[in-house]
Amino acid sequence: MSCCPTQPQCEAQERLPLSDAVITEAVNNAYSAKAKAGADPTYAANVAKAFGYTEDDLSAIPREANMGLSCGNPVGTAHIKEGEYVLDLGSGGGIDVFLAASKVGPTGQVIGLDMSSEMISLARRNAAKQNLKPPHVAFVQASLDKALPIEPDSVDCILSNCVVNLLHPAGKINLLKEAYRVLKPGGRIVLDDILARATLPDEIKQDVDAYIGCISGAIELHEYKELLLESGFTDVLFVETKGDLNAYSQSDLGSNSCCSTTRLPKPLNFDVNKWAAPYQIYAVKPESGVPIERVPSALFRWWDAYPTAKSSPLPITPGDVAALLRDKTKTKSDYAVIDVRRNDHGGGHVRGSYQWAAQTFYDDLPAFYENFKDTKKVVFYCSSSAGRGPRCGGWYQDYLDAKGDQTNSTAYILEGGVKVWLSKFGDQEDLVDKD
Ligand SMILES: C[S@@+](CC[C@H](N)C(=O)[O-])C[C@H]1O[C@@H](n2cnc3c(N)ncnc32)[C@H](O)[C@@H]1O
Repeated sequence: MSCCPTQPQCEAQERLPLSDAVITEAVNNAYSAKAKAGADPTYAANVAKAFGYTEDDLSAIPREANMGLSCGNPVGTAHIKEGEYVLDLGSGGGIDVFLAASKVGPTGQVIGLDMSSEMISLARRNAAKQNLKPPHVAFVQASLDKALPIEPDSVDCILSNCVVNLLHPAGKINLLKEAYRVLKPGGRIVLDDILARATLPDEIKQDVDAYIGCISGAIELHEYKELLLESGFTDVLFVETKGDLNAYSQSDLGSNSCCSTTRLPKPLNFDVNKWAAPYQIYAVKPESGVPIERVPSALFRWWDAYPTAKSSPLPITPGDVAALLRDKTKTKSDYAVIDVRRNDHGGGHVRGSYQWAAQTFYDDLPAFYENFKDTKKVVFYCSSSAGRGPRCGGWYQDYLDAKGDQTNSTAYILEGGVKVWLSKFGDQEDLVDKD
């Protein structure tokens, strides 16, 4: 098939049989294109209602969060309670993350993982519309066929909606084992997914469009159950939801052409209901009898919840910063020193430095900019200036770059951080504040 050779999924179609890498690339390309194109709101609402979402559900979330890509409504049956930690695997535009966030309230946490950077950007924009921020609500780019960036034994409930079928075979078992690892003992998974009614014929299995369309990667109930049991889950329950998979094609919107990325899953040229069906799957990680301490966040690295900085702050030596501090003609319009360490301030800090918490720095950027936009050199530091310092400095420089030439401010990073500063100037009172 060569109707659109510029589309990676169509190129992939010519390289049969489908390898793990081909599947992942084709799925990523298709859903990233979908995230960029957006969904027709009427079409997306019709699909969502066909798979169990109510008007109330849809009116409680940003419209763009529902992309018409779901095959169930896991939050509807997950019994999510206030204060729980919830993880959504393959979170797309964030539909289930936002519904879960309203259940867990401000003391809980909901994390959405997706491999598509475009989906993650879209979901973060949607979160901003709801004023939802990390660590309470976080969207993190992550490939579900690899180790999840989540703390072990930290999550109460794992959701996933029409995603597991999209993983290649080795990715499916890896994901279920990882789901087991990150769940607290006694925690549960609630997955909406598409299952194969029987062994799929090769022409369906090897059809990339049908893979992207959540059919070719569907496995049979007994295979799914084996994977869950092999991963350690108990109390496994499968419920056929009776949703009509033709709901995705029952719309006169979008195009039937093979290259259309405006509608996914793509219309397929066989009766999908004959071969596949949507199911809801429940399973439990058994209690261990050992009390588990609640972690402050289930996210392994707090900064994964934010975009990677594109810029690097310019290096500045401790000697040059000391000269600025000692020059009494210099004011805040010339320089400012910013301490972004967490709370490890024992031993002192650069005299006159401002304290800004790194973990909320990205969300505070507008306020930080207002404070320092007229400061020529904004010098960041942390312990050794290898982590938080360059990260916050990079975010600030990105923010400045996005503002264009409205400011003369530039981000710098203090070489060696406070460790080198104290080793050089620890005994010089005009340079070090011991408080
Ligand atoms: C059919 S969509 C469902 C999105 C969302 N759960 C919903 O109901 O709207 C599948 C999502 O899973 C993501 N996905 C597919 N394979 C993945 C993988 N291997 N790792 C991470 N995300 C993946 C896609 O990028 C896409 O956003």
